Amino acid sequence: MPDNWASYDTVFIGYPIWWGIAAWPVDAFVKANDFSGKQVVTFATAASSPLGNSGRLLAEMAGGKGSWQDGTCFTGSLSDAKVKDWFKSLKLSN
Ligand SMILES: Cc1cc2nc3c(=O)[nH]c(=O)nc-3n(C[C@H](O)[C@H](O)[C@H](O)COP(=O)(O)O)c2cc1C
Repeated sequence: MPDNWASYDTVFIGYPIWWGIAAWPVDAFVKANDFSGKQVVTFATAASSPLGNSGRLLAEMAGGKGSWQDGTCFTGSLSDAKVKDWFKSLKLSN
């Protein structure tokens, strides 16, 4: 478990897309932690694939605990500005 896990209200889970889903090393992190009471935002990088089902599959691995929302999948060249714009567009509850 990450340090001070209880103090986090929002968790961003970012990963590369592998064969259409989240890179599987991320599965262990999701299965090992309790997301109850947290909002979780998934986002990814990929060569060309969309976020697809990757976020929903991770939420299922988390046993439905937490409030999960799909973020985005970044493809192509990425800049700080693009990431900041995406972050500002999110509707976070806190
Ligand atoms: C095993 C493996 C599978 C991958 N599968 C996909 C895929 O299904 N779709 C896709 O768009 N990119 C795929 N990629 C590319 C990665 O998503 C990409 O390398 C990652 O987002 C990091 O981006 P970068 O290589 O530009 O740093 C795959 C990469 C690896 C190593």
